[in-house]
Amino acid sequence: MQVLSGKDLLPHLSKIRKDTPGFLLECSRRYGDLVGFAVGGVKVFFINHPDFIRRVLQDNHHNYSKDTIQYNTLATITGRGLLTSDGEEWLRHRRLEQPAFSRSRLAALDQVIAPALEAMLKRWEQQPEDAVLDIDREMMAVTLEIVGQSLFSIDLRTDAPRLTQAVLTALDHVIYRAQNPFAPPDWLPIPQNIAFRKALRQLDQAVYEIMENRRRSGEIRDDLLAMLMNARDEEGKGSALTDQQIRDEIITLLIAGHETVASALTWSWYLLAQHPSIWEQMRAEVAQLPDDRLPCYPDLERLPFTAAVFSEALRLYPPAWLITRKAIGEDELNGYKISPGSLMVISPYVVHRHPQYWEDAEAFLPQRFTNGRERAIPRFAYIPFGGGPRLCIGNNFAMIEGVLILAGVTQHYRLELATANPVLADPLVTLRPHHGLPMRLRRVVS
Ligand code: HEM
Repeated sequence: MQVLSGKDLLPHLSKIRKDTPGFLLECSRRYGDLVGFAVGGVKVFFINHPDFIRRVLQDNHHNYSKDTIQYNTLATITGRGLLTSDGEEWLRHRRLEQPAFSRSRLAALDQVIAPALEAMLKRWEQQPEDAVLDIDREMMAVTLEIVGQSLFSIDLRTDAPRLTQAVLTALDHVIYRAQNPFAPPDWLPIPQNIAFRKALRQLDQAVYEIMENRRRSGEIRDDLLAMLMNARDEEGKGSALTDQQIRDEIITLLIAGHETVASALTWSWYLLAQHPSIWEQMRAEVAQLPDDRLPCYPDLERLPFTAAVFSEALRLYPPAWLITRKAIGEDELNGYKISPGSLMVISPYVVHRHPQYWEDAEAFLPQRFTNGRERAIPRFAYIPFGGGPRLCIGNNFAMIEGVLILAGVTQHYRLELATANPVLADPLVTLRPHHGLPMRLRRVVS
């Protein structure tokens, strides 16, 4: 195993800050599947072999916590929601929320996706022919609406701009802190921190309003919000969750459940625009559906190629490009000692390009995921949704939403790139196009 010291990393600082996934990819190419970094007294292990990843995320997961800079910074917004909490608290909340993602509930998702998609397409219809839109922004808006409506029955159509802006401002701050470990502390009243506090207040206000409205209306709904608010403690007397805990779960799900799907869709459109023959193939599959209505849940089985396009976009541009853990006790990987407190770094972006598991890894080839070929991929060589007990709770939700949106838009539009500049991926909380994704809408004539 190669161990790089702070001195070795110094010449790469700019690359590390601007293109961390690219830097990690270079490290894995140069030094192999296990690379050590000794930075400021912390031992960091970058692991890129499916067996090592399996050990950390699954086989010995009890030894690895989410007490890392990545998740602690995110927790300044989400609190200790499902994504950032650990141990007993995490398990209790996961069990509580899991039923909201059951197959029967997911089968009803199209009842939320179709109206949101329809509203977006209606908006597009009012645009002049060949209009250029920022598709990243469009995907963010539609996915926020879907997650808000499906899990909490809240209509974010009017609230979306306010909430999206607050989420973005808060996330920007998290990214800034992650990229600038020596930035002034959060409590200093500098403009950046003041904007962050304001965004957090707006988020809190919006979420507490959602809870208050539900309480006041006395409505009996069968959604995740009801599950969280009606959960009883073990004696069945008081609430199992405090308002703060419910707030943390709502914000976690709004954030984890919309930006990720939006990012995957945005990159799918980008890749499709660059590969017209693949778009044609997808369009041919979509054209076989009854075209007087948007695709719905039962249509999914008739859309295997569209699903493969989405899976392949998730391979090349995994929205959650970085997964970190902290070692609690000692462990051993490939004969090397992992001491307590070590930071484990896993990058779906890098392992999805591992030459041993992916032939022609940089090429966009959805057929990798068709005709059962995907079954030959080692489980931990493809981890867009992570793995082990902390596997994304919304993985099936995301696949259904992604495929139905790809198919629904393709029924009506072809999206062309409207920029000659290279579209660079910014490794933010998720992988996002640096300046958004300007695309031209071309109506499809059937
Ligand atoms: C393409 C879309 C998505 C991607 C790529 C994605 C990716 C991930 C990944 C990699 C993790 C594991 C992180 C880790 O192990 O440290 C995760 C966890 C999580 N995701 Fe997703 N996700 C997506 C969509 C969603 C959706 C739609 C929801 C909810 C509606 C959601 C909610 C969550 C939550 C709550 C967790 C934490 C689960 C736990 O630790 O028990 N995600 N996601």
